Amino acid sequence: MSALLNVSGLTRRFGGLTAVSDLSFAVAEREILGIIGPNGAGKTTAINLISGVIRPTSGEVTFDGQTVTAFPPHRLAARGLVRTFQSTTVYTDRTVWENTLRGAYHGLYPGFFPAVFGTAQARRRSVETERRVAELIEWLGLTAVADQRAGDLPYGYQKTLGMVITLAAEPRLVMLDEPVAGLSAEEADHVRDTVLRIRERGITVVVIDHNMRFMKGLCDRVLVMNQGRELAMGTPAEVLADPRVIEAYLGRGHAAHQH
Ligand SMILES: Nc1ncnc2c1ncn2[C@@H]1O[C@H](COP(=O)(O)OP(=O)(O)OP(=O)(O)O)[C@@H](O)[C@H]1O
Ligand SMILES: [Mg+2]
Repeated sequence: MSALLNVSGLTRRFGGLTAVSDLSFAVAEREILGIIGPNGAGKTTAINLISGVIRPTSGEVTFDGQTVTAFPPHRLAARGLVRTFQSTTVYTDRTVWENTLRGAYHGLYPGFFPAVFGTAQARRRSVETERRVAELIEWLGLTAVADQRAGDLPYGYQKTLGMVITLAAEPRLVMLDEPVAGLSAEEADHVRDTVLRIRERGITVVVIDHNMRFMKGLCDRVLVMNQGRELAMGTPAEVLADPRVIEAYLGRGHAAHQH
């Protein structure tokens, strides 16, 4: 089992607060690794560090055997490591199609294309990209709404669109921060199925969420964080039965089985 992503001794301090503290874990190719933990445990910060949104105080990140610590997000995306944000990154005044194209071009604004892709070779490449984007939209069942403004779609569709945008960048590993926050049980099941299909495409997944039902149905292994550190690591059943994990949630006024 070779690790695609390897995190070693990752630490980030904000003034006196250590948000992520000496965190180490590996994610195998095609694995779905979940990250759970009480509010403020450092989950989002960990993903921000890995994806280059913020720089670590110390520690190392390797991806596909190469050191990528503190690489900016666009360099990581070019290598196939991309992430979504806790709040949706959909441009609500743009169509589903335009949003997805933007993802395919690593966040460049669609109106930008003629200037950037002016050569014949570049135009051919953009035709190929459009074909790929259409295929992706179809694959996730959004063809019927491709020309609608993203902001007019139901929230569940917007979440799916967020994933289509991420996939359009042709990632090898995606990191999802709370993909089912605010969704109904039915919508969460749909997202779970979508993520499982994403893995079938050969893509590795790291996913944060507070919805335990969603995480149990999705993850191969779960990393539990508490106060910036690893508290437990194992299968969903193992970690959810771990007294230390239950204690960490109860200690903050949460129930481990809140969802
Ligand atoms: N830019 C920042 N500056 C200062 N403190 C920060 C910053 N980002 C995060 N923190 C702090 O770091 C800690 C970890 O925050 P983080 O957002 O990573 O938690 P989380 O596990 O994602 O929580 P949640 O489940 O609520 O999303 C918190 O105490 C938070 O207030
Ligand atoms: Mg968070």
